[in-house]
Amino acid sequence: MKKISAATVRADFNDPLAVVHYTRAAHFLGLWESERVLIERHFPDRAAPLLEAGCGAGRATLGLWDQGYQNITAFDFAEELLAQARSLATERAATSIRFLHADATRLSDSQLLTFHSQPIPPFSGALFLFNGLMQIPRRAKRRTALRELHRVCAPGAPFLFTTHDRDNSPTERALWRLEALRWERGEQDPRLLEFGDRYFEEAGTGRTFMHLPDRAEILADLAATGWTPVFDALRRQIAAESPAVRAFSDECRFWVAHRN
Ligand SMILES: C[S@@+](CC[C@H](N)C(=O)[O-])C[C@H]1O[C@@H](n2cnc3c(N)ncnc32)[C@H](O)[C@@H]1O
Repeated sequence: MKKISAATVRADFNDPLAVVHYTRAAHFLGLWESERVLIERHFPDRAAPLLEAGCGAGRATLGLWDQGYQNITAFDFAEELLAQARSLATERAATSIRFLHADATRLSDSQLLTFHSQPIPPFSGALFLFNGLMQIPRRAKRRTALRELHRVCAPGAPFLFTTHDRDNSPTERALWRLEALRWERGEQDPRLLEFGDRYFEEAGTGRTFMHLPDRAEILADLAATGWTPVFDALRRQIAAESPAVRAFSDECRFWVAHRN
């Protein structure tokens, strides 16, 4: 059976089911309360150039715009989602947002570092929200994405992202102990690449690849790629989310790191 690849993930996000799901969230859900709190706390300068990775249909991008951020560059590798984000930005007259088709593991300098042939300064902050970084198959590739974001950000730039946390609850810990036994016996889903990976299907969302790390893994990845962690907490410790947000997304861990 074929292993999950970046092409699998991209195709799953371009699937009409996923496109409708994320477009609806961009139109009707907007920023989560926890995102709003952390963005306000860690990105105080609303004129600073920000880079949003994995913007999808623009849920957080337009949310940032609504919060007054004026200098946003957002990219995604799923063209169908990006088309929805562009159309929503046009509808909301957010025409100065720059949307780019790009892969987080291979950021193109020509696209990102110039605009209308003018060099733009390195980004003063970056975001990769709703677990997008963890949807990159293979840990080495996730580290490549972290290095790429490091390359295009200025020293001291904050980076806000989320992951799941395998140790989030006693139930999760028990389920992952069972999964560890499957891996020991070689009985795991053959499409998976690494322990912590999941590939699942949900009605109304389609197929999703997700790597679920533990906290130590993310701390090691940040250290290896030039980022210093300054904050991390589970979402429930940051803000109480509405039922609509909780229906859209599971519990996650928020991370803020500063570029070395
Ligand atoms: C869970 S969705 C979140 C979308 C949007 N940020 C939101 O919160 O609604 C993750 C996004 O990351 C994008 N993504 C995953 N891997 C990527 C990569 N290597 N390069 C660029 N985008 C990627 C997906 O296409 C998808 O749009």
